[in-house]
Amino acid sequence: MAQIRTACIGLGPMGLAMSGYFTRFPECEIVAMCDRSESVLNAALDSFEQTTGKRLPGFTSHEELFRSMDFEACAIACSPEVQPSLSVYALEHGKHVLCQVPVAFTEEDCRAIYRAARRSGRVFCCGEETRDWAFFRQWREMERQGSFGKIFYAEGEYLHYEPDWDLFTDAASGTPVRKSEACCRKDADLVPSWRSRLFSHPILYLPHTLGPLLSVTGGRITRVSCFGTRPSGYIYRDFPFRDLECAVMHNDRDVVFQVKAGFTTPHGFKAGTGAHWYQIKGTKQTVEWARSTLDTPKRFTPVPGTHDGEWQAMDCVLSRPEDDHEIRSSGHGGADLFPVRSFLSEILYGTPSPTGLVPALQMTLPAILAARSSEEGGRDLAVPDLSSFDESYRR
Ligand SMILES: NC(=O)c1ccc[n+]([C@@H]2O[C@H](COP(=O)([O-])OP(=O)(O)OC[C@H]3O[C@@H](n4cnc5c(N)ncnc54)[C@H](O)[C@@H]3O)[C@@H](O)[C@H]2O)c1
Repeated sequence: MAQIRTACIGLGPMGLAMSGYFTRFPECEIVAMCDRSESVLNAALDSFEQTTGKRLPGFTSHEELFRSMDFEACAIACSPEVQPSLSVYALEHGKHVLCQVPVAFTEEDCRAIYRAARRSGRVFCCGEETRDWAFFRQWREMERQGSFGKIFYAEGEYLHYEPDWDLFTDAASGTPVRKSEACCRKDADLVPSWRSRLFSHPILYLPHTLGPLLSVTGGRITRVSCFGTRPSGYIYRDFPFRDLECAVMHNDRDVVFQVKAGFTTPHGFKAGTGAHWYQIKGTKQTVEWARSTLDTPKRFTPVPGTHDGEWQAMDCVLSRPEDDHEIRSSGHGGADLFPVRSFLSEILYGTPSPTGLVPALQMTLPAILAARSSEEGGRDLAVPDLSSFDESYRR
């Protein structure tokens, strides 16, 4: 019997992909699937059977799943609005949790996850995977070797436009509906999806970008200020969307961060990373990913004592030829297996996952504060230290 029997909760595109990744680890076995939409659930059960030959038990209620099945871990890939309550429920029922990014949209939910994980002693990890693109592994190694000098600035953006986002869910079947006409808001058969709510504050998706940057700079974000465009889309007309939000942050290692997020205006892709872009500046070196498909990753090395220096194309890639085939063939340019592997290692060997409880919440809280700051006209806000959550879990 596999050591870690796992149930998948939430079977949209990301949850279904996650179920496939878990099957690649011999220490793990997927034992059940759960989605509150019966049609989504049945499609996922069929797809899993086609690829693995195994028909799994399926559930439309997580309570029923927990009552009926014996398992050790859950992979949760639902709306970030419901992920916290599902994670807390799973932790309180003694399960380890790998939760998709972003793990929460409110400070109260972060506190509840922290408290439940500490009380239960179970592993909680976040599925942020882009931090394991090969170039981030390379930049972390450069920092370890001192090649950046003192890092003082980190910037990133996630600007992911789709002309036909799934802004609605079919009320009867729970399946996603890709319609963008404002008149759909009056259709009684459709309910707004979590994405349509997210797009009022796209900066809530900041953990996906901040996590990788923090993995290079280290430290904890202490202050945040954020501005956004008006809450009314310029392309998605008559939707209460902010087309772009930009957060400026400071960490406890004197690094200034700038992170942008937006989903509702086109920006053009970057080579390899699509909608993602990053830059790190240090006293000895600046590195940045390609800004467009015409561009390459590059580095700037100053000539000490002058205002001059040299820009060079940099050999940066998403996955390395020496990464094994399983890694290279996983989603998001070969990054998707990393969070699953580190989650399983933390459970089996106690090796702390780089996206475990503390780093997961440290990349999430600044996003929540940034959305609040944007709402309050850019007010500078302090990000709570997780040690302030300890009180609540000891009580
Ligand atoms: N790591 C990444 O790169 C990445 C990429 C895409 C999405 N995501 C994250 O993955 C998550 C899911 O994304 P998606 O695109 O698959 O979303 P989705 O909305 O298409 O799918 C979510 C599924 O969860 C189900 N669900 C909602 N509440 C439930 C509940 N209480 N019990 C059981 N099922 C429930 C819905 O019916 C739906 O089928 C989100 O948190 C998203 O941010 C991460």
